[in-house]
Amino acid sequence: MSTNKIDFEKILEKEESLDPSNWEQLKKLGHEMVDTMMDHLKNIGEQPVWQKPTNKAKIALDKPIPTEPHSHAEVFSEFRENILPFAKGNIHPRFWGWVEGGGTPFGMLADMLAAGMNSNLGIGDHSAVYVELQVIRWIKEFLGFSSEASGLLVSGGSMANFTALTVARNNIPDMDLRIKGLFESPSRLMIYGSVETHSSIQKTIETLGLGASSFVKIPADENFRIDIKLLKEAIEKDRKRGRIPFCVIGNAGTVNTGAIDPLHQLATIAKKENMWFHVDGAFGAFASVVNEFKDDIKGIEEADSLALDLHKWMCMPYEVGCVLIKNRKLHRKAFHISSPYLLSHEKGLPAGPDSFNHYGLQLSKGFNGLKVWMSLKEHGSEKYRRIIRQNIAQAAYLGHLIDDNAELELMAPVSLNIVCYRFTHPDLSLEETNFINKEILMMLHESGIAIVTYTILNGAYVLRVANVNHRSRKKDFEVLVKETVDAGHFLLKEKMKRKAVV
Ligand SMILES: Cc1ncc(COP(=O)(O)O)c(C=O)c1O
Repeated sequence: MSTNKIDFEKILEKEESLDPSNWEQLKKLGHEMVDTMMDHLKNIGEQPVWQKPTNKAKIALDKPIPTEPHSHAEVFSEFRENILPFAKGNIHPRFWGWVEGGGTPFGMLADMLAAGMNSNLGIGDHSAVYVELQVIRWIKEFLGFSSEASGLLVSGGSMANFTALTVARNNIPDMDLRIKGLFESPSRLMIYGSVETHSSIQKTIETLGLGASSFVKIPADENFRIDIKLLKEAIEKDRKRGRIPFCVIGNAGTVNTGAIDPLHQLATIAKKENMWFHVDGAFGAFASVVNEFKDDIKGIEEADSLALDLHKWMCMPYEVGCVLIKNRKLHRKAFHISSPYLLSHEKGLPAGPDSFNHYGLQLSKGFNGLKVWMSLKEHGSEKYRRIIRQNIAQAAYLGHLIDDNAELELMAPVSLNIVCYRFTHPDLSLEETNFINKEILMMLHESGIAIVTYTILNGAYVLRVANVNHRSRKKDFEVLVKETVDAGHFLLKEKMKRKAVV
C-alpha cells in the first residue's frame, strides 16, 4: 500500500486523539463511577446474588458496532442499566460457585490506576517491572517457596499450568524439543496425575502436542487423593513398554473436593524417576500459609513448578495468576528467543531487568502486578492468612450444619474449603436424587439466594460450595442450608402432586 494514497495535508489540518474534549466533565463522571461502584460493593449483600440478563439487556448488547460517538454519560448509563445488574455475582457474600474470588474495592482502584498508566511489561526499564518482580518475591516468601525460583504473573491457573508444563516439556533430558519438536522423539512422552486433576492440565497437554492419551489419569482413593501404588505401577508399565515418563502432577486442592495429593510422596517418586514434579496449586496452595494445614500440603516446596491463582483465594480482582519455576535457567531456556527488535541495551528504556518475555508466551503484558502490590500493602500478608483460615473454618461449620441435618448428606470429606453435599430422602432413587438436587441448584440460582455449583462424585450429582469468599459470614451458610432443605421439600411435594395426578 502506498502512503501517497492518503491526502495527509488535509488530514493533518484536523488532527484528533482519543482523549476527552472536556476533561473536567469526564473527571466528574469518573468520580460518579467510583461512587457507583463503591456503593455497589458496599451494599452488594442486599442484592440478589445473580439475576438472569433480561431480554432487554441482551437486545441492547446485540447491536451493530457504533460508528458515531456516544457521550460518556450515555455509555455509563447503559453500563448501569444493562451490564452491572446482570453480573456473575462473585462479589456477593453468598457466591460459592466454581472457585471464584470476590475481589476488593482497593483492588478495583488499583486496576484503574494500572489501566491509566497502561504500562506494557513486555520489555523495558520502568516501575511496573519492578513492582511485578517484587510481588513475585513476596509470593515466594509468603508460601515459603525457594527464593531462587523465577516467576511470572499470568492470567490465571490455566496459563500458569501451561507455562509450567511447557518448561517441563522443553527441558526433558537428552531431547531438544524446542528445535526438533516431537517428530524426533524416540517414544511417547508420558505425564501422570490423578483423575481429579483440573481440565486445564489436559488442555495444556493437548496444546503442547503431546496428545491427551499421553496423560495417564491415575485413580484416586476414597478421599479423592491420587493412589500412589497405582501411580508407581503405571510409570513402571510405561517404562517397560519403552515410553518416556517425564512429569508427575500433584494437586494442592483438587477442584472437585479440595483434596490434597500426598505431595511429598509424589516429589520423592519424581526425584527417583528423574521426572519433573509440577504442583497445580491454583486452588489450594495458599492453604499452606495456615499453620494447621502446613503438614497436609508438605511437599509443595519440593515442586519443580507451581501454578497459583491470585484471583481465587487471594481475592485479587480478575485476572491474575502466577507461576513459579524452581530452576530459573530452565525456565528461561524454555522460552527465550533473541529478536533484533527486542534486544536489551545498557541504558535507556530497553535496559532494565531480564524481559518477562523470556519466561512465558506473552510479549505484551498488562500491569497485573499493581493490584497484587497494592492489595498486599493494604492488608498485609497476616490478614490474608486469617481470611484463608476463616474460609476453612466456615467450610467446617457448613459441614457440621449438613451433618446435623437428616435431610442433607455430605458427599466428600470437608478437607479444605470445599463442601460437597446433597438433599436426600429415603423414597428417592439415585436418579431422582440427582434430578432433585439439580433442580434445587437451579432454584437457588434463579431466586438469587445463593450460587453454589455442582459436580458428579461416584455417579451422584452433588451441590458444591467452594469458599474463597472473604465477604461470607456464618449466617450466609445457615441461609444456604435452610434454603436447600426448603427447596428440597418443595420439589418433593411437586413430585407427590404429579404422582397423584398420574
Ligand atoms: C485446581 C485448578 N487448576 C486450574 C484452574 C484454572 O484456573 P483459571 O480459571 O484461573 O485459569 C482451576 C480453576 O478453578 C483450578 O481449580
